[in-house]
This record gives sequence, C-alpha cells and structure tokens, in this order.
Amino acid sequence: MSNCAINTFEEFKTLSEKERGEFFGSDSGKLLSVIFAQQFNTDFLRYIFKLAAVIREISITKRGRDHLRTLCSDRVAELFFRQSSTRTRNSFQVACLKLGMQIVLNGDEAAESTSKGESELDMAHTLGIYSDLMILRHPEPGFVEEAAWHLARTGEKIPVINAGSSQDQHPTQALLDAFTMFEHFQQYDGFSGKTITFVGDLRSRTVRSNVYLLRNFPGITFQFCAPENHQIEKDIISFLEKHEIQYRICNQFGRPEITCSDVIYMTRLQNDYDRNDPDRTNRVIEGFVFGLTQLEWLRHDAIIMHPLPRRGELDVKCDKDPRIKIWKQTKNGLWIRMALLTIIFGQDNVLKNDVNFASMFIR
Ligand code: NCD
Repeated sequence: MSNCAINTFEEFKTLSEKERGEFFGSDSGKLLSVIFAQQFNTDFLRYIFKLAAVIREISITKRGRDHLRTLCSDRVAELFFRQSSTRTRNSFQVACLKLGMQIVLNGDEAAESTSKGESELDMAHTLGIYSDLMILRHPEPGFVEEAAWHLARTGEKIPVINAGSSQDQHPTQALLDAFTMFEHFQQYDGFSGKTITFVGDLRSRTVRSNVYLLRNFPGITFQFCAPENHQIEKDIISFLEKHEIQYRICNQFGRPEITCSDVIYMTRLQNDYDRNDPDRTNRVIEGFVFGLTQLEWLRHDAIIMHPLPRRGELDVKCDKDPRIKIWKQTKNGLWIRMALLTIIFGQDNVLKNDVNFASMFIR
C-alpha cells in the first residue's frame, strides 16, 4: 500500500516498519519526526553524533552560544508530558532554549479536557497545531506514533519527538546512550567485538530502543542479565535472530558477566508499571546490582551506564570512578537533542555552511 493511499492510522499501522520509518524520516535531509529507533541507520547515526559533538564545541564560546540561539528563534515547541520526567523534559527544555526557541509546557492538567469527553488524541492534536513541534511523553502504547501521524498530515506537517512512549520506546535516550558509547569506543577501535550488557529489568523502553539502535554497529554482542520474569522480551529476541546479531541470556549477574563486558547498562526495576505491586518505588532486584565489589571486577577500559533515575541498583559509592558515565550520558542528552532539533528545522545546513563552523564538521 503506498503512503498516499492511506487515510487512517489503522491503515498506516499495517505498513512495514521501514515504510513507517520513511514516512517519519530516516535521513538528515528529511527528518520529520523521531518516533522509533529503527528510523536510524549507521550513516545517519554517525551524522547525528558528529553534529552533537560540533554543537558541544560551538557552545564553548559566548559567540558560539549566541549564534546557536539564532538558529531556531522563530520556532515554538510544545512539551506535552503525560508521564513524570526529570531529565528528558528538562534537557529538551534547555535544548530548545539554547537554540532560541520558545516553549509551552503541558502535563496532566491539560488532560482535564478529557473530563469534557474529549479524546486524548484530539487534545494532543490541538496542542500540537498551535506550535511548530511537539515533544510528547505518554503512557499508552502506540499513542505517540498515532499523534505524530495525525500531526504529520496537518497542512504544516508538525514534527513530533517521542520523549518516552509507554513501555515500548524511548529513542532519544537510546541516541544519547549510543553517542556516549560511540565516543568512548573511539579510543578502542569502535563498536566491533564489543559486548554490551543490560542488567536489571529489561522490560525497559530504554533497553528496547538501545538494541534497535546499536544493531547498526556490526560485530556487537548483547548480553541480557535479568531474572527470568524481567528478561528481554520475545519480540527483541526475534529481531536479533532475524538480523543474526549475537546475544546471550543470563539469569545471573556476577564476575563472569562483568569481566567480559565493555559496557554495563544498569536499569531500575520498572515496577511503576505494575499496578499490583504494593511497593512501586523502592525495590531493587536482588543480585542485579552494581556496587564496590562489582567495580573491582570491572575491566579498566569498560564503562557503566544507567538512564536514571536510579535506586540502589547502582551504588552512589561507585560514582567517583571515571568508568561511571551516568553524568556524561545526562549531559550528552542536551547535545543530542539540540542536534535533532536543528536537523528537523533544517538548521544543520546553516551551521555546516557557516565559515566560522564548517571546519568543525570535517575534523
Ligand atoms: C527512563 C524513562 O523514563 O524511560 N529515564 C529517562 O528517560 N532518563 C528510564 C526509567 O524510567 O527507568
């Protein structure tokens, strides 16, 4: 079915992932919306990482920061967050401000209009059409993609960035994670031959998006360390098998799993999604924690990551060790989100063609 023959979201959902990815944009010249991690191929990822690094470098000087603030100063972003968020919302907010954008913030209070019987979709549509871009976090599976499809079909084709969609995807988190790994591995011959270990509750949307994104770097092995009931889901396993990507499932996390890892990506127990869990904010998964003992076993060239928020699964006592990259990840979120915004609004070309910055792109 060709895209132009499609009139409803139900029809759109029947398209392949590749076709849906192409609709939202899958290279720098045509990025409309950021909805799922499968939209990105290796070349596009390398380009985004380069752009993020250039933006970071430009931000060192006042002249550079002043220039960045002119890039999107004619744009308004709607940040609509229907689930709690600290890092994602704040880094998007600051990324917008650093590019000169105006922002409008909405959360659960906007959903009040559903008490009048309005659907959430109409409400998201309404908020989106007042702005030039919508950054959306939502607890319902598929909602972000559906809202993006509707907003892409308005006259102005309003872009949407997925800032966390239910338990299925969190593509900008995966982009900042992959950027952090990419820069670290530049000292060690790239991703090939590296083992990325995910630990804890692997039903996490950040883990899912990371797998979809990192498969672009050949020669990676994934290791999934979790108790059986928190293991990586079957659809991800099928994806890895289909693409012949190496993986190991481990129902423990001890010395052997740590010493063979180049990246250990810790996650918190996702029990805020489990309505029946009486203690939804505090527990950790016993045996799937990283502390000073585990730090002793970590190789000198390996790193520890966590999307945050953390509980006790990554002991704060480890934080001083330079192999703990959680704050680097957090900061990288800003550069990656600024890079995405400039691409969506076509301002990456303005930077590339500026005599003051062009040389930074070819280093
Ligand atoms: C994650 C999220 O909200 O999905 N955090 C984040 O965006 N930095 C991870 C989590 O909540 O576990």
